[in-house]
Amino acid sequence: MHPGQVWHDNDGKPIQAHGGGVLSYNGSYYWYGENKDAPNVPGTQRVEVIGMSCYSSRDLLNWTNEGVVLPAVKDDPGCDLHPGRVVERPKVIHNTRTGKFVMWMHIDDINYQYARAGVAIADRPQGPFTYLESVRPCGADSRDLTVFQDDDGAAYLVTGVLWHSAIQIVRLSDDYLRPDGASVRVLQRPGPPAGRESPAVFKRRGRYYLVSSGTTGWDPNVAEYAVADRMLGEWTTRGNPCAGPDAEITFHAQNTHVLPVAGRDDAFIVMFDRWNPNNLQDSRYVWLPAEFSREGDLRIPWRDSWNMDIFGG
Ligand code: GAL
Repeated sequence: MHPGQVWHDNDGKPIQAHGGGVLSYNGSYYWYGENKDAPNVPGTQRVEVIGMSCYSSRDLLNWTNEGVVLPAVKDDPGCDLHPGRVVERPKVIHNTRTGKFVMWMHIDDINYQYARAGVAIADRPQGPFTYLESVRPCGADSRDLTVFQDDDGAAYLVTGVLWHSAIQIVRLSDDYLRPDGASVRVLQRPGPPAGRESPAVFKRRGRYYLVSSGTTGWDPNVAEYAVADRMLGEWTTRGNPCAGPDAEITFHAQNTHVLPVAGRDDAFIVMFDRWNPNNLQDSRYVWLPAEFSREGDLRIPWRDSWNMDIFGG
């Protein structure tokens, strides 16, 4: 791994999977993210929506492009997936009861007023995904989001509410397609710039961790993590997990997902985006291994390069 350097797929093309997440399924990994493979709209810090990419891998290093698995819908300006909208941060989980792969994503207009969570389903991890609808979970606005699937099969939508001044954790229905009514608001702050964005959740040794960024758009800021004993319980803020050069601006990046490495004990990779606002298609990926103290404190030290041996046998 070479954090921050251009990462090519197996065809030699730069990987386009921004704001993404990784699903581990049946011995393979599937990396979903925003395809931003186009120049910025002139004079703006956005690209038109192309759709959600999927890449597959067995070793987390070499990735095969599975294509755009949820494409933009060009001919309907009213559609959530129209190129003139904002469609960000796809996260996919697998529902063993229904057999469906469920993608949740942030759906918005270019002024970030629409503020909804969109859901799509597929029969196979490599799609195609069928878009279902967007919702305001529990009546609230919803911007940056993630989903987390617990060991007991329960899944949660974790999303920025009240203009990102709090994080809302919403339990999903058994089919993962809608909120089931149970929710909590956590990490409430007076609002920007102190609010939280880009939530990423993982579970280690029975404890839940939530990593998030501050609210400065594409610009990097200080990360923070919080811990809880229950997803819908009380969350305690623990400060910045990053360490090393530029740790206070998250190594010029913003977290997006924390990936448990399959088949390895206690091995987690924290995935970040290093955004390039004036040329978004050249935004980079920073993946770093998580470390834990004996008490379970999370630490993410900078590394110029590293490999899977770091996790041991
Ligand atoms: C960030 C957010 C990104 C994107 C960006 C636009 O704060 O995490 O996903 O929406 O703002 O400025």
